[in-house]
Amino acid sequence: MIDTIYARRSIRKYQERPVEREKLETLLKAAMAAPSARNGKPWEFVVVTEPEGMAKVRSAMVFGGYNAPAAIIVCANTSLIKKPLSQGFWVQDCSAATENILLAAVELSLGTVWLGVHPIQIFSSQISRILSLPKMVKPLNVIYVGYPAEEKPPRTQYDPARVHWEVY
Ligand SMILES: Cc1cc2nc3c(=O)[nH]c(=O)nc-3n(C[C@H](O)[C@H](O)[C@H](O)COP(=O)(O)O)c2cc1C
Repeated sequence: MIDTIYARRSIRKYQERPVEREKLETLLKAAMAAPSARNGKPWEFVVVTEPEGMAKVRSAMVFGGYNAPAAIIVCANTSLIKKPLSQGFWVQDCSAATENILLAAVELSLGTVWLGVHPIQIFSSQISRILSLPKMVKPLNVIYVGYPAEEKPPRTQYDPARVHWEVY
């Protein structure tokens, strides 16, 4: 697991090869295994694999002009958040699901990159329009998925200066 964490890197060049549906489903199972506040699981996912859909997503994501064959858009459906204390935690809940996708992808020999959507209003509204998201469904990010066409070395970015033992 530690090796998988170090091996996860943002991949921005992809092979033309499509991603098998079974692998995409494995990523979604990994996502939904994530922890969430009071097990609220506010997440929903939109999976885009058609080239026309990918072209629209790509055009909305100005910092995401990469040739991935598929994308998973991680969203929160705010109408699913019933418990009062869970309301403010959808970003963390969906981020935990996102990281699970990124790590599971490494194990499946897939590359990914996390493209931020929330809280940039223009990205949220464009992605919502393209994917026909209802008002109560908020997109957190777009994760591009595909077979990598670039290699990046595993690494930690460990910096002991950022660690404060016992007190700051
Ligand atoms: C919230 C968030 C938003 C990001 N948005 C973008 C993005 O729009 N475009 C992009 O190419 N990478 C994006 N990234 C990826 C980061 O640039 C990348 O994780 C960082 O440079 C470290 O590199 P690594 O992922 O290879 O470890 C984003 C990452 C996060 C966590």
